[in-house]
Order: sequence, then C-alpha cells, then structure tokens
Amino acid sequence: MKTVAVIGLGNRGAMYARRINNQGGKVVAVCDINESVLNHVGDKLGVAPDMRFNSTEELFARGKLADAIVVASQDRDHYGHAKQALLLGYHVLCEKPVSPIKEECIELVNIAKEKNLHMVVCHVLRYSGFYDAIKQVIDSGEIGEVTNIQQTENVGYWHFAHSYVRGNWRREDETTPSILAKCCHDLDLLYYYTGKKCKSVSSIGSRRIFMSKNAPEGAAMRCTKECPYHKTCPYYAPRFYYELTLHSIPIYLNRWSLVTRIGNPTRAQVKEALATTSPYGRCVYHCDNDVIENQTVLCKFDGDVNATLTMNCSSRGCFRRVHITGTKGELFGKDADGKFRLNVWGKKSRMVRAKMGQGHLGGDSGIIHDFLELLETGKPNPRVSFMSETVMSHLMAFAAEESRKNGGVQVLIEE
Ligand SMILES: NC(=O)c1ccc[n+]([C@@H]2O[C@H](COP(=O)([O-])OP(=O)(O)OC[C@H]3O[C@@H](n4cnc5c(N)ncnc54)[C@H](O)[C@@H]3O)[C@@H](O)[C@H]2O)c1
Repeated sequence: MKTVAVIGLGNRGAMYARRINNQGGKVVAVCDINESVLNHVGDKLGVAPDMRFNSTEELFARGKLADAIVVASQDRDHYGHAKQALLLGYHVLCEKPVSPIKEECIELVNIAKEKNLHMVVCHVLRYSGFYDAIKQVIDSGEIGEVTNIQQTENVGYWHFAHSYVRGNWRREDETTPSILAKCCHDLDLLYYYTGKKCKSVSSIGSRRIFMSKNAPEGAAMRCTKECPYHKTCPYYAPRFYYELTLHSIPIYLNRWSLVTRIGNPTRAQVKEALATTSPYGRCVYHCDNDVIENQTVLCKFDGDVNATLTMNCSSRGCFRRVHITGTKGELFGKDADGKFRLNVWGKKSRMVRAKMGQGHLGGDSGIIHDFLELLETGKPNPRVSFMSETVMSHLMAFAAEESRKNGGVQVLIEE
C-alpha cells in the first residue's frame, strides 16, 4: 500500500486525504499551519500525533516520510512546497495553479525530470466521466480532425462572490489572476482535447460588478441587520453562509471552517465571525478584490485549430459549455447535464451519456485513482496530467494576461 503525506488540510487537502484512505492508499502524515484544523482532520484520518506537523519546515526536516505528497496549500505556496518535496524524493500531486511565474513552473518540470519523479497537477476535470467521454469521441476520429473549440466557464454568481470577491482568490498579488486560478482547468482541456501545442493567445477581460461604485446607497461595510439591504441583498452573509434559501450558497460550499478558521465551528461561532472578523462577512461591493470578472481568450493551436474560452462570473449555476467542431462532425453539451450531443455528418444524431460522480463530476476521485495506480504500477493512464505537459495551460494563462494588459494584442507562446 502506498503512503502519502498531505500539506494543507482545507477544502481540497482534507477531501484528497479522505479519498486516498478510501481508495487504497494510506495518509501517514499531515501538515497545516492551523492547529485546530490539523488536529480535527488528523483525528478523523487517524494520523499518529508525531506525524502531524504545524509547518512545512517541521515536516520537511523529518526527511521523506511517505511515497508521495499532496500539496493543497494556497496558490503562492505550491511552488516552494512542491520543490522541497521533489528534492526530498517524494512523488507530488500538486493543486492548481502551480505558480503564477513561468520560470518556477519550468523549474519544477526540470527537477521532476532530473529526479525521475512523478509530478501531477490537479487538473481534475480530465478525470471526470464527461470529459473522458469527449476525449474518447475525439480520439476515435468520429468527428474527424478538430477544427474549432468554444468553451465557456460559468463560475456562478455566488461562487464568484465567495471565492473571488470575499475569499482566497480575490487579489492577484496574493494569489494569481482569475484566468489562471479558475480557468487553468479549461485551458488544460483545450490542450488535452487536441493534444496540440498552443502557439498564440489574445485576450480581453474586465471588472464590472463587484466594485465600490456599484454599492447601493448607504450599504454597510459588513453584512449586519443594520444594513438597509439585509433582507433583499443576494449576498447578505448570514443568509449566504447558513440558511438554505434561494440566496444561500449551495451546501457543499457552506464552508464554516473557512469562514471561522476553526476546525469544527458551531453556528454561534460562524455568526460571530461573520459579524466581526471574517472576510466572508464583508459587503461584496466593499471588498479589496481586484481579479477580473469576465474574460475571453482566443487561442491558436498547431495544425490550424482555433479555440475560444470565456470565463463569466454572472450565472446562477456553475457549469461549462463545450462545442467542438471537426472536419466530419461536431459535439456540444453542458458538463453539469452529464451528456453531450454528437452529430457526425451523414449519420443519425445521438446523445452520448457520461458516467457522473461527486466532486468535479467525479474528477476528484478519478485523479486519486489514477495517481495511486501510477504509484503502484509506474504506468500512467493516458489522461494523467503530468506537470511536464499540463504546464501548457499555465503558459496559455500567462500569455492571456500579457495580452489582456496590453489591449488584447496577440502574444506568442514560447516554451
Ligand atoms: N483542483 C481544483 O479544482 C481546485 C478547486 C479549488 C481549489 N483548488 C486549489 O486548491 C488549493 C487549496 O484550496 P482550498 O479550497 O482547499 O483552500 P483552503 O483555504 O480551504 O485550505 C488551504 C489549507 O492550507 C493551509 N495552509 C496555508 N498555508 C499553509 C502552509 N504554509 N503550510 C501548511 N498548510 C498551509 C490552511 O491553513 C488551510 O487549512 C488552492 O491552491 C486552490 O487554488 C483547486
């Protein structure tokens, strides 16, 4: 049985740890800077007290404690944590985005190669039934050679407000631009569908909604009953975080430990945190967010394949729409539906139904399955998102940002 250490026990890290233990691996060491979270998750996983670490310095000082490490800390720490893990001889499963700096991404590719270690990036959508089924259709040649891809990522108004206005991914300087943080998955899929290198990118984007100039007159800085809009505002924090109403966020995002930074908070602690110190209690129009809300990226791939990706924050649901055309047919669908229509010229149109699952449509368990299999057998499933190739998604995002900041000019991608 392969052993794994996990850095960062928040939403992602705790979920991966649970899946590793349920899917044939064993989590033997955990690390989180938040002691309350460390012990809460450590207890649940049954990790020995001397294998729980309050900092990566303590964890890495003990040398190599497992076959692999999951890096699920925050965006700006992935590079440093992954690098140290590789240098100690761990295989690495690293959350996306790996780094907002090109040189750091390339350095990690090179270290993994030199040390003959696996570094896999959590581009989990590749591992879901829906995208698996699309890839199979493309690879079967049924729609011929791919000519054009249109993909939209609809983030969801509540998801955007939670993560990109109030939450962890609201500022570029603390994390990464939203096109990298939210859409490196999508850019990875564009590359994955075609298997071709992206040669150039142009991009435009803007902020339109979550800005102080759009705050209704007299809106309070924090969501309390004193705010005149507390009954009607869809973002009113107490309702948003703990009531299941039309305007509350779906329960799976009901992140009480994130809101309070306490391992297993009570309802009263959530209420108190939202009213006083929690960033999630702030008015969405009065936050310090600066990431882009909607962005379109125009990509040119090898072999004259063109693609567009649009990220949009203003949708009720979280879903992606895909339309892929080829020389002999097309496919289109919405991932949340778990099916897509396949039209092959001269043949009867048909619906392709994909196997669906929980957590990124089954991608979260899919990546753990493939990663553990890789550790056991050394033989990768073809869908495995090795850093050495999935780095293309990051290069595309860097080029998109360079283009957006320069009025949408075409930016060539050089590796
Ligand atoms: N693959 C995906 O689809 C996907 C989805 C959401 C988030 N993410 C990424 O996963 C990562 C984690 O996101 P999350 O939602 O779990 O965040 P989170 O805030 O819930 O969890 C992060 C955890 O890391 C801990 N931490 C922070 N700095 C640390 C350090 N230096 N050492 C050890 N622990 C540290 C925090 O205390 C926290 O418990 C982020 O980089 C995010 O961008 C990926």
